[in-house]
Amino acid sequence: MKSAVRIFPSPAGLAAKLAEEIVRRISISATKERRYSIALSGGSTPELLYSLLADDHAGQVPWEFVYLFWGDERCVPVNQADSNYGMIRRILLDKIRIPAANVFRIRGEDNPVMEAARYSCEISGILPSRDGMPVFDLVLLGLGEDGHTASIFPGHLRLLTSDVICGMAEHPVTRQKRITISGGVINNAEAVVFLAAGKSKAPVVRDIFRKNPGFENYPASHILPAYGSLDWFLDSEAGSLI
Ligand code: 6PG
Repeated sequence: MKSAVRIFPSPAGLAAKLAEEIVRRISISATKERRYSIALSGGSTPELLYSLLADDHAGQVPWEFVYLFWGDERCVPVNQADSNYGMIRRILLDKIRIPAANVFRIRGEDNPVMEAARYSCEISGILPSRDGMPVFDLVLLGLGEDGHTASIFPGHLRLLTSDVICGMAEHPVTRQKRITISGGVINNAEAVVFLAAGKSKAPVVRDIFRKNPGFENYPASHILPAYGSLDWFLDSEAGSLI
C-alpha cells in the first residue's frame, strides 16, 4: 500500500490541491476511454472541494467518464438539511453537466435494510470486482472526532470485516439510521483519500498516526487499502499534533 500525508496551511489549500488531483486522475482515465468511479464523502469538510470542482474545474472535467456514488448516506429525505445527496446536489451536481445516468445515489428516504441491499446490488452490477468485492477508483472519506469514517462508527467494527458491500448503521449519539459502504469495499479501492480539517480532528489524527493506546477502536485506523493507495489530506490544524 502506497500512502502519503499532505498537510496544507488551510482548508482552502487542501481543497484546491485535492480538486486538482481528482481532475488529473479523471482526465488520465478519460484519455484511456475508461470511466472513473468515485465514492463521495458526506459531512461538511468536503463541501469546499465539491464547490471547487463545480466552480473552478467544471469545464475541464469530462464528466461523461465520471461515475459518482456515495460512501454513505443519512436515512432522510433528499430535501432534509443533513442529506449527503442533497448537499452534493446543491453544491456540485446542479452546476456540472454530468449525465444523470452516471449518478448513483443512496436512497435515504427508503427502507434502510432494503436500500442497503439495493445499493449493494447496484454497486456490484456497475463496478469491476476483485476478490469478490467491487473496486472503486477513488473513495473519499471524512474523519469523525470519534474516529468514525463513512458511517462506520466505533463499536461497529463488523462493518469493517463483514463481506457485505453496504450495510446499515446508526449514529451513536443521534441514533440516526445510516447506510454505508463497508470497510471491505473501501479497502478494495484503487485509491482512498481521507480529508480532515480543523483543530477538533487533531487528537484523533494523532492517535491514529501514532497508534496510541486504543487507536484500533477507531474504524478509520482500519482503512488500509489492500491494493490501492491511501492519502491523507490534512489542514495544518488537523495535522498539528503529528
Ligand atoms: C457523513 C460522513 C462522515 C463525515 C465525518 C466528518 O455522512 O457525515 O460520511 O463520515 O465524513 O463525520 O464530518 P465533517 O466533515 O462534517 O467533520
